[in-house]
Amino acid sequence: MSERKFRSRRVPSPGVFLLMDEAKTRARAAGVTVIDLSIGASDLPPPPEALEALKVSVDDPTTHSYCLKSGTMPLLEAATEWYCARYNMQLDPATEALSLIGAQEGLAHALMAVADPGDGILMTDIAYPSYFGAVQVAGLVPLYMPLGHDFLPLLEQVPAADLARARVMLLNYPNNPTSAVAPRAFFQDAVDLCRQHKILLIHDNPYIDLVFGTEPSPSPLCLPGGRDCVLELFSFAKSYHLGGFRLGFALGNHEAVASLEALKAPIDFNQYKGIMRMGVACLKLPQEVVRRDALVWQRRAEAMGGALQREGVEVRLPTAGAT
Ligand SMILES: Cc1ncc(COP(=O)(O)O)c(C=O)c1O
Repeated sequence: MSERKFRSRRVPSPGVFLLMDEAKTRARAAGVTVIDLSIGASDLPPPPEALEALKVSVDDPTTHSYCLKSGTMPLLEAATEWYCARYNMQLDPATEALSLIGAQEGLAHALMAVADPGDGILMTDIAYPSYFGAVQVAGLVPLYMPLGHDFLPLLEQVPAADLARARVMLLNYPNNPTSAVAPRAFFQDAVDLCRQHKILLIHDNPYIDLVFGTEPSPSPLCLPGGRDCVLELFSFAKSYHLGGFRLGFALGNHEAVASLEALKAPIDFNQYKGIMRMGVACLKLPQEVVRRDALVWQRRAEAMGGALQREGVEVRLPTAGAT
């Protein structure tokens, strides 16, 4: 790959999702029945309210043109209201929120927007595969934090040199692939550390609704000091089964939001308005709807874990449906 003439050193090798897609296509062409566990795509239906919002939008000519910032405001207002209802923190939709074409897009662009090539990023070496590509594209140097048995980084063991080099700390709890959930106290320690060392804490939070317990998943943004150093990324793919529609949003520190917005300006013109209206419809749904779906994942995990245990396999049951 690296010998190719028209290829930057920052372009990653084809990731696991592309490789598996090719393998699945080959297997299917050869008549093999594939049970596809290669990507965490939901098989539950999106909320009917969201599908209806899209159907109506397609026939509405005001949705057909480019969508600039003002066109994203209904989604950003719904997102900040949703956040306030959950975490009791009022954010400014114009300066502390940004629409994304999925959390993955948001993360890759955020890394480019808030750090320079050669800067360090504190992260874990067990992580969602796309993180490694996004770090390479941004030209950052991964600084792996030691992990405890609960799959949380041991923040007090991060070397001083790494703290000095890092511009970003990347966390993801509920975590893919470990399903670990981080308690509020851990997030507070991470916020305090990042503030002290002028590091932006990016919390990729697509699995916020998929915790199996009754306690809501904590959010670092609303903790003391969070507004100064946290950018949090949310997705419609997991809570609302809209992975293919490509929609998410970022909430958090206004400088990080402004940098991300400025970086994205020459790259994209936001998602289609009809899809953003789907997002608004989702954010207005009662929380019981997403809790009901989280229970579906929990029952499936218990059934799978139980079956494996009956076969003598030692299994630690997951604490969230993060895949
Ligand atoms: C940790 C993590 N972040 C981001 C994503 C992708 O989110 P989106 O579909 O909003 O880009 C996934 C999808 O599996 C994920 O596991």
